[in-house]
Amino acid sequence: MTTVAPSRTDPQLIAQELLEARERTLLLVAPLSDEDLRLQHDPLMSPILWDLGHIAYFEELWLTQNLDGPIEFVEMPGMYNPFEHPRSTRGALPLPGLHECRTILDEIRGRVLARLAAGGPDDANPLLRDGFVYRMVLQHEYQHNETILQTLQLKQGRPYTPRTRYQLPQAPPGHPAPLREMVRFPGAIVEIGTDDRSVAYDNERPRHRVEVAPFRMDVNPVTNGDFLVFIAAGGYEKREYWSEAGWSWLSQSGVSAPKHWTLGDEGWVTRVMDREVPVDPSHPVCHVCWYEAEAFARFAGKRLPTEIEWEAAASWDPATGTGRLYPWGEAPADRHLANLDQLGFGTAPLGAYPGNLSPIGCYGMIGDVWEWTASDFGPWPGYESFPYKEYSEVFFGSEYKVLRGGSWATRPGAVRNTFRNWDYPIRRQIFSGFRCARDD
Ligand code: AVJ
Ligand code: FE
Repeated sequence: MTTVAPSRTDPQLIAQELLEARERTLLLVAPLSDEDLRLQHDPLMSPILWDLGHIAYFEELWLTQNLDGPIEFVEMPGMYNPFEHPRSTRGALPLPGLHECRTILDEIRGRVLARLAAGGPDDANPLLRDGFVYRMVLQHEYQHNETILQTLQLKQGRPYTPRTRYQLPQAPPGHPAPLREMVRFPGAIVEIGTDDRSVAYDNERPRHRVEVAPFRMDVNPVTNGDFLVFIAAGGYEKREYWSEAGWSWLSQSGVSAPKHWTLGDEGWVTRVMDREVPVDPSHPVCHVCWYEAEAFARFAGKRLPTEIEWEAAASWDPATGTGRLYPWGEAPADRHLANLDQLGFGTAPLGAYPGNLSPIGCYGMIGDVWEWTASDFGPWPGYESFPYKEYSEVFFGSEYKVLRGGSWATRPGAVRNTFRNWDYPIRRQIFSGFRCARDD
C-alpha cells in the first residue's frame, strides 16, 4: 500500500496524463456555442468559461508559481478565485471568450511542460514528492469536468448533445442479487483513510484504526424501481418518513420526485442531456438530495450508512484483515470495471459490472452515482491541511454531508475507496444516489 507506482513520478507519463485531461475538457465543451459557454445557466453553477479559466490559473499557481517561488498556500487571487466570487455572481464577471481562454490554457500548459521536462518530481519539495502536485492539478481538472457536466445537465433551452458517447454495458440475464438483499459486515477493527501522499487529498489522511460494530449494507444502490415504490406509497406526502429539516426542505421546495424526472402520460420519464427515456427501474436512482435519501431509508426501515461503514463495506476484507484501494482490488479504476468516465452519459442497470464487487459482497460502490452517507464532513483524527486549507479544511463542519464512490460523470483518476466528496443536504444537481444500511 505504501509503494508508489513508477507512473506517479515519471515525467513523460505525467505529461501524457495532463494532455489527456485537457483533451477531455475540450471534448466536453466542443459542442457548445459562445453563448452557452458564457451564460450562467443556474445560480448554483459557474459559467463554463469560468471553469475553463479557473482550470488554467489553478494549474499556473500550483505547477509554475508555487514550484518556482515561495509557496502560496492559498487559492489564486483575482477573477478565478472561488472565494472572492461566489458561484451565483460569476455570470457578471468580464470573462475572456473561448479563443482567449484557450490561448491562456495553452500558454500556461507550455510553461508547465517545459518545467516538467527540465526536472520532474523531486523528494526535497513536499509538493513534488511522489508527483503529488501534478496529481492534485489533474484531479482538479477532472473534478471541474464533473462540475461542467452538472451545468450542462441543468441548462435550459436546447439540450447539450455530446460529441462522443460510449455504449454502456447491459445487465446480463440473471441478476447478480435480489434487489433488496443486504450483506453483513461482521464488525472489526478497520483501517480507514490512507497515508498515501502521491494521489490522496489531505482529507483522506491519516490512515487510522476504527472499531466498527456489525452492520448490514445494501448489496446494490437504491434503484429507480425502489424509489417508484416510495413515491407510490406516498413517500413525499407522509410526514413520518422525514426529519424536521427534511420536511422543511420538502415543504419549501415542493419536490415530488428526483430532479430531472417528469410525469408524462405514459409514466415517469427522465432526461440525461439530450436524451429523454422512461425511468428504468433497474438503474440506481440519481439526482436525489440527502433529505430524500434519509426519508427513503426510514420508509424502508433502514438508515444511511456512516461514511466509515461505507468505506468498510467498500474496502475491508474481514477474512484477511486487509483493505483494498478499490472494491475489486488494486487495479486502477477504468470504465470497464465500473460506470465511470463521463462518456456513457448516464447510469447503467444493476448487474452491468459484475466485477465491481467489494470483499463483503457489495456491488457498484464505485461509479454510477455518488452515494450519500449519514456523516458530516470533518477531519480524520490527526488531520493536517496540505497543501492549502481551501480544498478541505474550510468546509469541515456540520453543514456538509459526505458522499462516496464517484458517479458516471467522474473520471477514474478522481475516485477511490478513500475519496471523500461533500455537499449541502439539499443539493440535487450532483449525480447523487445512495444505498441503505441497518444495525445488525
Ligand atoms: C470536492 C467536489 C466538493 O467542486 O467544490 C474543485 C472540488 N475543489 N475545485 C468542489 C473542487 C476546488 C470540490 N468538491
Ligand atoms: Fe476549483
